[in-house]
Amino acid sequence: MMSESTVAPLPHVAIQVFSETAPVVALVEEATQDRRMAKAHLRIQAGGVAAAVEAYRDAPTPNVIVIESMTDSATLLANLDELAGFCDEGTRVVVIGHVNDVPLYRELIRRGVSEYLVAPLDVLDFIRALSEIFTGPTAKPVGRTIAVTGAKGGVGASVIAHNLAHAIAQDLEVETVIVDLDLPFGTAGLDFNQDPPQGIMEAAFDPARVDANMIERLLSRCGERLSLMAAPSSLDRIYDFAPEMFEPVVDALRATVPAIVFDVPHLWTGWARAMLVRADEVVVVASPELANLRNAKNLIDTLALARPNDPRPRLVLNQVGLPKRPEISTSEFARALDCTPLASIAFDANLFGTANNNGQMIAELQPKSKAREAFLDMSKILMGRQEARQAKKSLFSTIREKFTQRPGKARAA
Ligand SMILES: Nc1ncnc2c1ncn2[C@@H]1O[C@H](COP(=O)(O)OP(=O)(O)OP(=O)(O)O)[C@@H](O)[C@H]1O
Ligand SMILES: [Mg+2]
Repeated sequence: MMSESTVAPLPHVAIQVFSETAPVVALVEEATQDRRMAKAHLRIQAGGVAAAVEAYRDAPTPNVIVIESMTDSATLLANLDELAGFCDEGTRVVVIGHVNDVPLYRELIRRGVSEYLVAPLDVLDFIRALSEIFTGPTAKPVGRTIAVTGAKGGVGASVIAHNLAHAIAQDLEVETVIVDLDLPFGTAGLDFNQDPPQGIMEAAFDPARVDANMIERLLSRCGERLSLMAAPSSLDRIYDFAPEMFEPVVDALRATVPAIVFDVPHLWTGWARAMLVRADEVVVVASPELANLRNAKNLIDTLALARPNDPRPRLVLNQVGLPKRPEISTSEFARALDCTPLASIAFDANLFGTANNNGQMIAELQPKSKAREAFLDMSKILMGRQEARQAKKSLFSTIREKFTQRPGKARAA
């Protein structure tokens, strides 16, 4: 028997339960009160697998979907196969059934379902099953890292990193941390109207003590799902570090938060380069002029070469249409870099200046602006939500195809 203390607390994940019976509703209520669930967002909705299929036909999926099922195995499997087609990358599925059915269990696990639990369930068994998805020996880190940098200084990389993080947290409802790596001059504290006493350097200088608790302490909350890990923004020390300096902090963040946005300053030091090379997604922000074009090309080519098995760094054009500035057109820029920009954001001194002065995000100031829409679109693509929706290949669906689609295709042919 495992003792209670071996159940690790859950990270900042979103969990949606689809229930069919009152005891499961009560179980979820009870689980919400447990200390191990303090960081997780647990929601419950009536209806089993069919309700889940309806819910996610057009909506993004959370980190975990828990489905209680009273239906027969064949219907359950058919519905799960349909659901798999709507599941975003990384979404895990747990099924609560009412029969101890070994063949069904095997079939579910083969399709990529994380766990099959048999009701009635003890609350701690339920929490343990959820916890082990993220903390078990084969668990993948929950966090996706997005590094944003500028092709030149002052092109708006920080503003874009902040607004992107805000969109992921606010619009996609994913718990997000923005990490300010502009150590001497970072403005994240100013931009979010915060004055945190400590931040990233505390953890970086004390790698042996970095764990989930320390990370929690170093974050300052600036929204329902958004926290900030601030830069010292002080010149009391210098910031020459080894390339692996921030690795322990990054690992600890990835273990507990689903979305992490790094504001990487316009630098080419060992550690800044490492932050770009090791991120899941890289965004290079550029203004439409010549030096930016050259630098963006060098950055994107060099980084693409250093991370051959990852998505190519994405280009974002910013401050487009600065009055009286001769500019390289978006299409020319895109052609020279052989890529389609992820977004093109217009120069708007009033909007961005006011946001700056007020310590507000663009979405708060002008929710209907084109810039806000751009941040929202970027957030979906960088979190694997939109592109992934077209050619979705989670473990779940890949396995499903292997076992169930072949005969289907044969019939259709
Ligand atoms: N689209 C825009 N229109 C108008 N002003 C903008 C736009 N984007 C950014 N700015 C402004 O440009 C300035 C520089 O932005 P920001 O600090 O984000 O750039 P950066 O690339 O991070 O600079 P640094 O190299 O100092 O890190 C800020 O005052 C910001 O408000
Ligand atoms: Mg900056």
